Amino acid sequence: METPDSKNIDYQQGTVSAVDLHDAVRRETPLHPGERGTVGVSVLVISALILIFGGGHLFSTSNGFSSGIYTSSNYVPAPRPSVAGGAEDAEQAAWIDRWMSDGKKVYANCIACHQASGLGITGQFPPLVGSEWVDGGTKRLGAILLHGINGPFKVAGQSYNQLMPAWNTLSDDKIAQVVTYIRREFGSLPEGEDGVITTEMIKAARDEFSGQAGSYTEAQLLGIPADANLSGAKVDLQTGEPLP
Ligand code: HEC
Repeated sequence: METPDSKNIDYQQGTVSAVDLHDAVRRETPLHPGERGTVGVSVLVISALILIFGGGHLFSTSNGFSSGIYTSSNYVPAPRPSVAGGAEDAEQAAWIDRWMSDGKKVYANCIACHQASGLGITGQFPPLVGSEWVDGGTKRLGAILLHGINGPFKVAGQSYNQLMPAWNTLSDDKIAQVVTYIRREFGSLPEGEDGVITTEMIKAARDEFSGQAGSYTEAQLLGIPADANLSGAKVDLQTGEPLP
């Protein structure tokens, strides 16, 4: 037979009776099934305001959650190290940087006369800095490098009367590199001119000037229009590939 008392199981192991334990729960008014508790209007309004202003603030200050906000605008990511290492990493450097550093090496041939600074030696060897020949069209430069000059020869209003050797024993690559180097390093190029001479241009110049016997004279070089350029496509400075 069930008596109210028999429900009151006292767990012998514990020190608290289950009835005592549930008394606290029984004190609370239960929610009846189907009935919902109400949330105060003020709580709703405050929550809504937090969402609206918080969301708005996040939207206006997060910059679209772009990772770019942590880097300055002129940041250029370092080239990714390749798994293979060495040789491939060198490939990542911009073509123009390699072309210039190779040109600087070829320029070692010129230092004795034109000096590392490109300023020459007063009265003996003309400067490349401030020279109208370096700043002008590339056709004259191609002719000068391939066949040399026999003075007298005027540079920046100064007269020189020595011998500029011919450099046609150097490869097309090397001549192209050194002319690129002197133009970009010592020249003051017109706006928009990148100063680059390619192997293709020197190759074409070799053919074009192949009829020249011996060094050029000043009169011959002045016969080439000052703004004439060697034929060949412009290249992408990053890749060295011809531009369309
Ligand atoms: C042995 C000395 C000597 C060497 C080496 C030499 N040059 Fe010259 N260069 C001259 C002289 C001298 C002239 C002026 C012409 C003359 O007097 O005959 C000249 C003229 C020039 C000119 C035209 C004038 C000017 O100053 O802009 C250029 C460009 C030039 N040289 C570039 C080079 C380059 C590039 C090299 C190296 C690959 C080189 N030269 C090596 C002696 C030299």
